Amino acid sequence: MCGIVGYIGNDQATPILLNGLEKLEYRGYDSAGVAVYDGKHIQVEKSEGRLKVLADLLDNGKKLPGTIGIGHTRWATHGKPSDINSHPQVSNLGKFAVVHNGIIENYLALKEFLLKNGKTFVSETDTEVVAQLLEYYYQGDVLDAVIKVIGKVEGSYAFGILCEDVPDQIFAVRKKSPLIIGLGKNENFIASDIPAILNKTREIYRLENNEIAVIKNDQVTIYDLDKEVVKKTPCHIDWDISAAEKGGYEHFMFKEIMEQPKAICDTIHPRIQNGRIVLDDVTLTKEEIEQFKKIVIVACGSAYHVGVVAKYVIEKMTRIPVDIDVASEFRYRNPIIDDKVLVIVISQSGETADTLAALQEAKRLGARVLSIVNVVGSAIANESDDVLYTWAGPEISVATTKAYSTQLTVIYLIAIYMADLLGKLSQEEYQMYLKDLNRLPEQIEEILKHKEQLQYLASKYFNAKDIFFIGRNIDYAMSLEGSLKLKEISYIHSEAYAAGELKHGTISLIEDGTLVVALATQDILFEKMMSNVEEVVARGAVVLGLTTEDHKEMEQSATHTFYIPRTNDLMLASLAVIPLQLFAYYVASMKGCDIDKPRNLAKSVTVE
Ligand code: M6R
Repeated sequence: MCGIVGYIGNDQATPILLNGLEKLEYRGYDSAGVAVYDGKHIQVEKSEGRLKVLADLLDNGKKLPGTIGIGHTRWATHGKPSDINSHPQVSNLGKFAVVHNGIIENYLALKEFLLKNGKTFVSETDTEVVAQLLEYYYQGDVLDAVIKVIGKVEGSYAFGILCEDVPDQIFAVRKKSPLIIGLGKNENFIASDIPAILNKTREIYRLENNEIAVIKNDQVTIYDLDKEVVKKTPCHIDWDISAAEKGGYEHFMFKEIMEQPKAICDTIHPRIQNGRIVLDDVTLTKEEIEQFKKIVIVACGSAYHVGVVAKYVIEKMTRIPVDIDVASEFRYRNPIIDDKVLVIVISQSGETADTLAALQEAKRLGARVLSIVNVVGSAIANESDDVLYTWAGPEISVATTKAYSTQLTVIYLIAIYMADLLGKLSQEEYQMYLKDLNRLPEQIEEILKHKEQLQYLASKYFNAKDIFFIGRNIDYAMSLEGSLKLKEISYIHSEAYAAGELKHGTISLIEDGTLVVALATQDILFEKMMSNVEEVVARGAVVLGLTTEDHKEMEQSATHTFYIPRTNDLMLASLAVIPLQLFAYYVASMKGCDIDKPRNLAKSVTVE
């Protein structure tokens, strides 16, 4: 969602802002803008559409001089995408320019108050209210005005603020939306995420909720709401810069698909020591696990789909009941949670607003919270009792692939670890699972070698209007992910169904030529799945069957068959997802879609 960049230093700000914003494009946006102090005034330039429109308008930044500025990519919440609604938003007298990520929930009441006090508005945004409020409360000290304003606004925010009266400072504050400060030599930065500043600095501060940063080119001071200085230690980012670049690939999504074997190795290997699973610092003892009466998994989107697989895996291995909920539902349904419940929260970004709120609700109700997160130091990681990081590296493409795969492997680790402590696994089974886990990267490599087959299938069906994904148990969980992957990047309507449910309604949609992707990887359910395949074939469906290499019978009914290597049933999800990702990718590519930045979507959903 919205991306924020700010620069203060000795170089021309606008090209740096545009470059930083480009690195944040993955977050999703519909318009962009910058505000730069040109030596006399704050100059604002903004436009609807892609960043390139703004860059062209500014001759790649050359047209807007000045060495201090803030920039923004907007993902519309209040008011449609337009030049006027783009950020920065400016106060009536032009004293303040503000960029914002988040939602001001009480903006209507605040707007009414400001209108009564003579302010006028040009945009439909909640952010303009903040610019006006700053000007309203400003009495010569910007820090005071910022403290006053954040005492008035409700909701989530990361703000970057320029004030014409102090043209050597940027002000930044956040609550629930991410914001980091990049520390350079005689230059400093603000950004929503690390890739925006990675080519400039690797030393950062992560702002905590309601810490206010006053940033000069040679000094960053952070205050709390009482204007006390907060001492912070910089955090060093050791990402390989190429991890956040396309590295010769046409799309980040494809690069990230190809990176999955390595990402899985990086996630598993440090946690298997001398043939035993070691879960970092997570101290889940036998006694603690025994007192959990259930596990609840909460997440959104693809991370939720990992949770659906996890339910099958954890229940099968540990026999502890597992509930799974989408975070936006969980938080408002008065869930039955107490200190006998382990809540597992899954999130790539660690910033998803609904997931974070669900975590907070679970903690409030007394649960122990274990999170599976990719972004180190993110809000979800910080607020959890225990964290297991997925070592996937930066994931830029909006459609998740390697984060999903590494989340799955962490689930296997947790399930095997708990099952072992509970005495549910023999030593042979334990070692078999570890061996299978270790083999996943090379088996995925093997599948990736057959990517042209999926490219061919995509070339045959990229014009489809509807595509159905069916499967049973874990294959049903994979159908959910395959369907989401396809629809989010190719815009083809798609549905995922538990195969046995088809005849209770959805089968009426199957007609001559409808493409059905049938997942049949689970050995004990293979025959049942074949009956479902027959049912759709009898109604005219074209079937793309996905099964393991020992089930050649699939070819008798399916129009096309894609084989994956064999492993134990519980881990087949990790292999089955690869062709689904590739199929979605190639379909979207053939349709000419903007794969890394699908319409209307954002990488980190930091608003409710
Ligand atoms: O950062 P998170 O894992 O919390 O994000 C959750 C979902 O927004 C995310 O998985 C989304 O569904 C992806 N676009 C799926 O590819």
